Amino acid sequence: MSQSCRIPQHVAIIMDGNGRWAKARGLPRLDGHRAGAENLRRVIGAFAQRGVKYLTLYAFSTENWGRPQLEVRGLLKLLASSIRREAKELDREGVRLMHLGKLDELTPSLQKQVKEALEMTEGNAGITVSVAFNYGGRAEILEAVRHLLSDGVKAEALDDATFSRYLYTAGLPDPDLIIRTGGEMRLSNFLLWQAAYSEYYVTPTYWPDFDEAEVEDALEAYSQRNRRFGGLEPR
Ligand code: FPP
Repeated sequence: MSQSCRIPQHVAIIMDGNGRWAKARGLPRLDGHRAGAENLRRVIGAFAQRGVKYLTLYAFSTENWGRPQLEVRGLLKLLASSIRREAKELDREGVRLMHLGKLDELTPSLQKQVKEALEMTEGNAGITVSVAFNYGGRAEILEAVRHLLSDGVKAEALDDATFSRYLYTAGLPDPDLIIRTGGEMRLSNFLLWQAAYSEYYVTPTYWPDFDEAEVEDALEAYSQRNRRFGGLEPR
């Protein structure tokens, strides 16, 4: 396969810029998040069509609880309404849904909704869409270490593969490409362990405007990268 048609197996996205998208239109921030949620289907479809097998979306970080209560409540409601609106259709399209993060800190009814969507789609063979909600990379690593210790894993037995099995992302390949919308150049506590050799792509476009053409641009940029994983030869 030529370099220019290389497709990443796993794409992860930091969906940033909803607030600025709303502000630019004189709208409340929550309208930006609503527009962001409505953009999910289009982007999932575009990546699935291009042959990406795993898509991970950063929807709510452990730090986002510190936002004004109105915004936090709005984001929790959006998760619930997105599942209600989208889960059945995504299931019909063969999408497998996964959740990354601390589910037990969400309300019992939201937990139930998330679990039902995961169970409904778990046998699907299409693109795997992981939604990182109440997710933090450091919290994920600490939780993994606690489990390792309580399982009595011996220091000598600990290697990359064993550690990876204790993360929320157990069973998923590491992301090949991490996209950030909204122009900021930071990782914001996202997939800290898994991002070790990921390629980065940042676009100034706000998340609600990240469309099929933007997906193409990101994939095109990725196809031009030489990945060396610390060695000298491209792999
Ligand atoms: C960052 O924009 C975005 C978020 C904190 C939330 C992302 C959520 C969605 C895309 C929609 C919700 C989806 C689900 C599944 C609930 P920002 O508010 O930091 O934007 P700003 O940097 O312009 O202020």
